[in-house]
Amino acid sequence: MTLILGLETSCDETSAAVVADGRTVLSNIISSQVDLHQRYGGVVPEIASRKHIENVMPVVDQALADAGVVLADIDAIGVTYGPGLVGALLVGVATAKALAFAAGKPLIGVNHLEGHVFANFLAEERLAPPLIALVVSGGHTSLVELAGYNSFRLLGQTRDDAAGEAFDKVARVLGLPYPGGPEIEKLAQGGDPSAIAFPRALGQGPEFSFSGLKSAVLNYLNAARQKGEAVNEADVAASFQAAVVDVLVDKTVHAAQAAGIGSIVLAGGVAANSRLRVELAGRCAALGMTLHYPPLVYCTDNAAMIACRAHYQHLAGDWAGLGLNAVPSLRLGKKRY
Ligand code: KG4
Ligand code: ZN
Repeated sequence: MTLILGLETSCDETSAAVVADGRTVLSNIISSQVDLHQRYGGVVPEIASRKHIENVMPVVDQALADAGVVLADIDAIGVTYGPGLVGALLVGVATAKALAFAAGKPLIGVNHLEGHVFANFLAEERLAPPLIALVVSGGHTSLVELAGYNSFRLLGQTRDDAAGEAFDKVARVLGLPYPGGPEIEKLAQGGDPSAIAFPRALGQGPEFSFSGLKSAVLNYLNAARQKGEAVNEADVAASFQAAVVDVLVDKTVHAAQAAGIGSIVLAGGVAANSRLRVELAGRCAALGMTLHYPPLVYCTDNAAMIACRAHYQHLAGDWAGLGLNAVPSLRLGKKRY
């Protein structure tokens, strides 16, 4: 049995996990700072780093204790080294390096986005590449072809805002708290998704754009306010959500068809969105494709997905060495050590 200790501190969750053989989660401790950042309407990098410093060792100790192991039992340590907030990443990277050095274990640098994709392997033992992955988070919207466990090809990404960012910004103008995605989803339940025809950008190809949609929602709300008209906020939320989901579903299905791959996986915080799950599942079923998505706890930032990714790097002998540094703008499929 191979045991990986995973660490994740790229944004506002401090997380540590122990995963056996890449698939069995023995522990997954997540200390969220969301309450701290909520009153600022987003993550404050300096506050995040300071909190990670306080939380990281207690979270690691808890992850080891819950898994019933000690550091000496661990085969390798995997840590997110990018993309993310530099100060936040550095806390995880420095901690992992210290642990790896002290315990004499291999250190594995994990790309956060690849970790999100691998969250799918935690839930389904038999799931394996080739796969098409839609990575949709607060910072990223990308379509990726996974030919093998260590073979990523970026097919296309957003030219401007990420899907989650669009959810967060629209939530903000509707006066909803951060993070906005779950709030919009809740509000949309009482609304009509076809009430307002918001734009669907870049009809063809694997690239996305959401800033025009965000502006369209803002313009709609401003125009109504200027005219003194009442706005049905549930309709706005439902119509906005439908516009995002339509584009994500269309482009993902087309990418899979173009690559001749019949398995699609969802990854990242926005993968928690139930309209996205239901619509994409429907399209996949109609086309004879299969859709997989992680359980909610593995959709948002967590260390179990990082340990899972690290496991497959470990099998390939892909170790980082103690010179590993944080790379805030790390791209999916790219290595910087
Ligand atoms: O992957 P994640 O936890 O953090 C990174 O950005 O890496 O994703 C967070 C994003 C936020 O923008 C949040 O609003 C969005 O995921 N999100 C959702 C939902 N839950 C979280 N967006 C739409 N619907 C949801 N249910
Ligand atoms: Zn993330």
